[in-house]
Parts: sequence; structure tokens; C-alpha cells
Amino acid sequence: MNVPEPPPLPNIIGHRGVAGHAPENTLASIRETATMGLAWVEFDVMMTKDGELVLIHDETLDRTTDGRGRVPKMPLAALKQLDAGAWFDTRFKGERIPTLAETADLLVELGLSANIEIKPARGYARETGQAVGAFLRDEWPPGLIAPIISSFWTEALGAVSEVAPGFPRGLLVGRIPSNWTEELERLGCALLHCSQRHLRRSQAEAVLASGYRLLSYTVNDVAKARASWDWGVEAVFSDYPDRLRNI
Ligand code: G3P
Ligand code: MG
Repeated sequence: MNVPEPPPLPNIIGHRGVAGHAPENTLASIRETATMGLAWVEFDVMMTKDGELVLIHDETLDRTTDGRGRVPKMPLAALKQLDAGAWFDTRFKGERIPTLAETADLLVELGLSANIEIKPARGYARETGQAVGAFLRDEWPPGLIAPIISSFWTEALGAVSEVAPGFPRGLLVGRIPSNWTEELERLGCALLHCSQRHLRRSQAEAVLASGYRLLSYTVNDVAKARASWDWGVEAVFSDYPDRLRNI
């Protein structure tokens, strides 16, 4: 199987934009990533009731918007009425849930590269992967570096690679499972994205020794970042990249 690879990555990637500094998964948060001087940003993508792709982490709206209910039960027009910024700080009042298309336009404007995490609502992994694949195939801006597509959901990674096979993929896990090599090989992933909390040096070394690339989340602490990089983690996802710089 052809395994698409991303270019060499910087050692810090903004997490949900930069979630420590601006409301996660909003255009404001992605702008802030660029303002902080980062070159890559991660965000979460979910499918709406009417098949649109939007940036949001939780399946429910309650934590990060002034709405209630579940994303897969709401059409885009209803989601666009919601405020996705004021919960974080009144400075961000009026911020909306962005679509993937709006986000891609902003990435072009800012010259940012992206890790798109497919975050399907329960029961929609395959459909969400197909929709992201169709977006990549038909609408990804040609001037932008190909994004890394990641997911905890292997059905989503499989679906995206069927529709848009040329985009690099990363398998997301919490603890690294015992069958990680088989899964990466089966899915054609070049990268493994694991939880920093559970990562052990021996595991990191095994991943690298097998020729795969390793990323870890979510790293907001200098000592943990330093350990990750020492062990060969190529990039850490951080809400507070400013805390990790100059070390
Ligand atoms: O993609 C890294 C990280 O974002 C995975 O966890 O829950 O923050 O999306 P989560
Ligand atoms: Mg994420």
C-alpha cells in the first residue's frame, strides 16, 4: 500500500487552534496559532445533520457554545446561530462554529498547515470519513500542503483513504495498543498520535525503530515536552505553545 508522508514537522503543533489562548476549534483560535508563530495547527471535524463538516470537539454543544443538543441532529444553519466564543472569554463573543471550508480559506490566508482530526459523532465514523475524503479530493486548496488526517476511529481513516488516498494519515490512540504495527500497516498510516500521559520511552523507541513517526498530545508542560522530544516524538500538540518554547 502507498503510504503518504507529511513533510518534516515542527516540534509544536497548536491543539484545537491554540485552545489555551482562544476558544477551541474557532477561526479566532486558528488565527492565534499563526500569531504565535506556529506553522501547523490541529482541529477536530464533525459532520452535521445535513452532511456539512464543522469544527467542534464534543458531540454535544453545551461545553463550547451557548446551544444545547447534539451536533449530528442539527443542520449547519442552526449551528451557525450559536455563539462559540463567549464561554471562553467575552472578548470572543460572536465567534461562530466554522466549517471546514471556511477554515481551509483561513489556512490559505495565514499560510498554516493542518492536522485534521476526524471526530465523528457516535455511529457516523464511516460517513464522516467519506465526507472529509470528498472535501480533500474536491475542495482542498491546491496551494496548501496536504493536511495530516488523523482519527481515533479506524473506520473513518479507512473511509478517507478510499475517497482521497493521497493524504497522509495518523492513527490516534490513548495508550499505544499491542497491535499498533498491524493497525498502522492495515490503514496505511505513516504516523501514530498517542497520549503523552501514557507514553513510555521503550514504546517511543519501538515506534521509531519500525519506521513510523510519533506525535503526542496534549503537552502543556515543559518537562513533559522535553521528555517527549528526547524520546523521539516529532511534534507535540499543545494548548500553550508559549510555555514550551525556548527550551
Ligand atoms: O489530535 C490530538 C488530540 O486532539 C486528540 O485528542 O480529544 O483533544 O481531540 P482530542
Ligand atoms: Mg483533537
